[in-house]
Amino acid sequence: MIIEVSKQNLSDAAFVYMCSWKESHMEICSADFIEKHDIDYMTVFLSEKIERGYKIYIKYSEDVPVGIIGINPSDEEICLLYVLPEKQGNGFGNELLRFALAKCENPYITVLDSNKKAIDFYTKHGFVPAEKQQENSGEKKIFERKYVYQKQNL
Ligand SMILES: CC(C)(COP(=O)(O)OP(=O)(O)OC[C@H]1O[C@@H](n2cnc3c(N)ncnc32)[C@H](O)[C@@H]1OP(=O)(O)O)[C@@H](O)C(=O)NCCC(=O)NCCS
Repeated sequence: MIIEVSKQNLSDAAFVYMCSWKESHMEICSADFIEKHDIDYMTVFLSEKIERGYKIYIKYSEDVPVGIIGINPSDEEICLLYVLPEKQGNGFGNELLRFALAKCENPYITVLDSNKKAIDFYTKHGFVPAEKQQENSGEKKIFERKYVYQKQNL
């Protein structure tokens, strides 16, 4: 079951986001920066995204929250795809991305150049590199690349 995130399930979404974000950023951010992204920080972050118009969805498997994904309707950026570390490799990422793609016409995503697993994942789904951009992670310069959706080739 994939449903839209609202006030009722915001804490589930923030929990999934926190666990998966921390695990995926551990090697590129300092311990202090990781520590700062606690459940309150993630709750406020997601809540502000929703207030700004983002649609955020959460996947439940057997009543357990396992993954989230977001769409910015204003430019069709697909973002915030995070699956709980212990639930990865079970097809939830594929399901969430297909769900979001079905709601978009010309979506794009941005992903860190260092995130090889996610790049492979998005490439399999038909995303191709668009342009290189530089982003300040808050403490060091890290490269993030934009990918546009070309075709579904799963
Ligand atoms: C990227 C991510 C969303 C994928 O979610 P997932 O639920 O693990 O993905 P799925 O189980 O649907 O598998 C998707 C593909 O990745 C492959 N895959 C999954 N886990 C893998 C692993 N540990 N190592 C290598 N490949 C893996 C699967 O084989 C599958 O390929 P297939 O469709 O050809 O069979 C998940 O790894 C994640 O949350 N990562 C941390 C956050 C992140 O990096 N998000 C992207 C930010 S831009």
